[in-house]
Amino acid sequence: MSLSTILLYFFSKQQFNNLQEEKNQLTKTKDLLETIIENAPISIFWKDINGAYQGSNKRLLELINLNNKEELIGKKDSDLNFPEKEEFVYDDKLIMDTKKAKLNYTEKVTINKNIVRIVNTSKVPLIDENGHVIGILALTQDITDQVNNLNQLKEQEKLIIQQSRLASMGEMIANIAHQWRQPLSIISTLATGIKLEKELKISDEKNEMEALDIINQNTQYLSKTIDDFRNYFKKSNYMNSIFTNDLLEKTLKLISSRLKDKNIEIILNTENIEIETYENELVQIYINIINNAIDAFENFKNLDSKKYIFIENKKVDTFLEIEIKDNAGGIDDEIINKIFEPYFTTKDETQGTGLGLFMCNELVTKHLKGNIQAINTTYTYLDKKYKGTIFKIVLPL
Ligand SMILES: Nc1ncnc2c1ncn2[C@@H]1O[C@H](COP(=O)(O)OP(=O)(O)OP(=O)(O)O)[C@@H](O)[C@H]1O
Ligand SMILES: [Mg+2]
Repeated sequence: MSLSTILLYFFSKQQFNNLQEEKNQLTKTKDLLETIIENAPISIFWKDINGAYQGSNKRLLELINLNNKEELIGKKDSDLNFPEKEEFVYDDKLIMDTKKAKLNYTEKVTINKNIVRIVNTSKVPLIDENGHVIGILALTQDITDQVNNLNQLKEQEKLIIQQSRLASMGEMIANIAHQWRQPLSIISTLATGIKLEKELKISDEKNEMEALDIINQNTQYLSKTIDDFRNYFKKSNYMNSIFTNDLLEKTLKLISSRLKDKNIEIILNTENIEIETYENELVQIYINIINNAIDAFENFKNLDSKKYIFIENKKVDTFLEIEIKDNAGGIDDEIINKIFEPYFTTKDETQGTGLGLFMCNELVTKHLKGNIQAINTTYTYLDKKYKGTIFKIVLPL
C-alpha cells in the first residue's frame, strides 16, 4: 500500500466522520424545531400553494376539534367545511399573490353549530430560495374567553353608568324638592288666605291682586327650576366654550337652597377662565363633589365651627386646576384609596350608592381627558384651624 493510498484512506475517513457529524447535527436541529412547533403555546399550521394543509401542531387540532393529523394533512378549508372557508381562501390567495403578510387580525372559526371560536391570526407567505411562493404559514390563537370577558366587562360598565345616572337623578330630585319647598309654601299660604277671606266675605280686591301676582311669580320660579334641571340632565354630545364663573354660577343655582338649608357657606376664589368642555358633565362633577361635602358635614358634628366649601380655580400652563375644599373633617386614611371605586360608600343604602365619585372619575379621565384626586388637608382660615378634604381636578385647556 502506497503512502498516498494510506493518506487517501485517512482523509476519506475524516471526511466521512465530518459528514456523519453534520448529519447528526441536522437531525438534532430538525428534532428541536419539531419539538418547538409541537409545544408552542399557539396553533401553527402551513399549507401548500393550492391551500392544502401540509402540517400543523397539536394545538391546531384541538382548536378545530380534529383527533389526528391524518384528518388534516392534504385537506383544504373547503373539505373541512368551515362556513368561513371563502374568507380563509381569499386571505391565503391575497397573501400568496402579493407576497405580503397579514398580521394580528381577529377572525371567527365555526367548528360546528355549537362551537364558534374567535381567534387572532397572523399569516405569512412561505418563499423558497429562488423567491417563489410555495405556500403559507399561519399562527393563530384562541381569544374567545378574553373577548367574552371583555364584553362582559363592557356590559357591566354600561350598567354602572346607567345606575349612576339614576342615582344622580335621585339626588337632583331631592334638590328640586328643596328648591320647591319655599315657593310651594308661599303659594299654598296665599291661596288658602284668599279662600278664607272669600269665605269670611272680607276679601279685598287690591290684596287679592297682589297675592295673585306673587303666586304667579312663584309658579314661574318653579317652572324655571324645572328647566334648569332638565338642561342639566341633557347629555352633552359636543363641547362648547364657557367661562368658569358662568359654569359655577349655574352649578350653585342648582344646589343653592340645599346649601342655605344646611348653613353652608361657599367661598369662591376663582379666575374667570374660558374653557372648551362638556358643560353638563362638568356641572355634574361639581355637584357630586359638593353634595358629598354636604353629606360629610352631617356626620362631622363640630358645633362651634362654621361650615365652609372653598372653590378655587386657576390656570396653570395649559391646564385648568379646580380645587373644592371642605372643612368636614376629611376622609379616613384607610378608605381614601377606595372612594373612586364603583359602589364604594360609607353611607347607608338610602343615602348613597357609591357611584358619585366613580362617575366623576370616569367623566374627568375618559371624557374630559384630565385627572382627579382627593387629598386630606389641615389649613387655617380666618385664624381658625380646620380639617377637611380637597378634591383637585386638572383639565387640559
Ligand atoms: N368631602 C368628603 N368628606 C368626607 N368623606 C367623603 C367626602 N367625599 C366623599 N367621601 C367619602 O367617599 C365615599 C364615596 O363617595 P361617592 O360620592 O362615590 O358615593 P356616595 O356619596 O357614598 O354615594 P352617591 O354619591 O352614589 O350617592 C362616601 O361614601 C364618603 O365616605
Ligand atoms: Mg356622592
